Amino acid sequence: MTPAGTGAEDVLGAGSMNGSAPPDGTVLEVEGLTVGFPSDEGLVRAVRGVSYTLRGGEVLGIVGESGSGKSVTSLAVMGLLPGNAQVTGSVRFRGQELVGASDATMTKIRGRRVAMIFQDPMTSLNPVYTVGFQIAETLLAHHDMTKAAALDRAAELLDTVRIPNARARLDSYPHELSGGMRQRVVIAIAMANDPDVIIADEPTTALDVTVQAQIMDALDVARRATGAAMVLITHDLGVIAGQADRVMVMYAGKPVESGTAEDIFYTPRMPYTLGLLGSLPRLDRASARLTPIPGAPPSVVNMPPGCPFSPRCPIAQPVCDETEPELTPTTSAEHTAACHFSAELAGREAHELFETTVSDADALAEFVRETEDQSS
Ligand SMILES: Nc1ncnc2c1ncn2[C@@H]1O[C@H](COP(=O)(O)OP(=O)(O)O)[C@@H](O)[C@H]1O
Ligand SMILES: [Mg+2]
Repeated sequence: MTPAGTGAEDVLGAGSMNGSAPPDGTVLEVEGLTVGFPSDEGLVRAVRGVSYTLRGGEVLGIVGESGSGKSVTSLAVMGLLPGNAQVTGSVRFRGQELVGASDATMTKIRGRRVAMIFQDPMTSLNPVYTVGFQIAETLLAHHDMTKAAALDRAAELLDTVRIPNARARLDSYPHELSGGMRQRVVIAIAMANDPDVIIADEPTTALDVTVQAQIMDALDVARRATGAAMVLITHDLGVIAGQADRVMVMYAGKPVESGTAEDIFYTPRMPYTLGLLGSLPRLDRASARLTPIPGAPPSVVNMPPGCPFSPRCPIAQPVCDETEPELTPTTSAEHTAACHFSAELAGREAHELFETTVSDADALAEFVRETEDQSS
């Protein structure tokens, strides 16, 4: 994979790539990451201490409502934050520290070792070049091959991500493709780089529901073909069901629960996670209603003390407004939750927690009572 004559390995440094790389197949380690943006109102504390470990070939889902710090976390990993961002903590790719790394180092890692797929494919595509040119360009930058071979491979890649008539599509410009097709092209480009890590940030959010599953399939194909580990970011727990090995739930810039997919889906220990689960349509329970979480996430400027979820939490107690809970082991050492009352959530379901507080059920009952009163 070493590109001839670019000196890329020198920039990365053989020692840092191999000598201090973690032995257990860990590809990405994020530790105590914080990101703040100065503003007139005060520091916007977008990320307030994120830690995760991504092992080779594994899929980590990061879930949380809009504004919870998911994108900023990933942009920090990629070194793509604006200049005014204040970053602390550590991001290590195969043991090499990326926080504060030089532009030259980041350029070698970005795209090639760690590929990023954004919500809007036009962020990654150049509108003035054909998709064939853009995929071939990526291949030629990283592999010693002829232009014709690069175009052959580009057609193969488009076919792999299931673009019909792949060969003919090489001559298309991005604007000639549907949103779903464009996102497949972006995935093909990510594959062309043969990355170790793919970070996909809301890859299906901008797309029609009917193509979302197809894009998830294309991502899965890309992951298997490259053997890359994946960070799959979404506001919708449904998107990562069946995809993620492990899940980290974020709220107000921090992980509030983390564990295997089974832990998160079947034995959640943070009311916010239960709330997210309750907002999911469930095919296995035809009668179950959706239970939305009432309220909205807090501002991350001048945050009050205590648990940021407390104002929306159906089981909040006075202590919740005084002390922000730390991530603490729950059902296992790997399953952690940040809630003073996580033990009390065993066996509880979202509708028990939220249904009584939100209330279309109450409103409906009220309406029925009123109608009955009037007719009697
Ligand atoms: N460049 C920026 N300057 C100031 N605040 C920002 C910037 N980028 C993001 N934020 C703020 O950081 C918080 C987290 O944003 P983000 O990571 O984009 O959320 P998510 O991806 O989870 O929806 C939000 O409050 C957002 O407004
Ligand atoms: Mg985002």
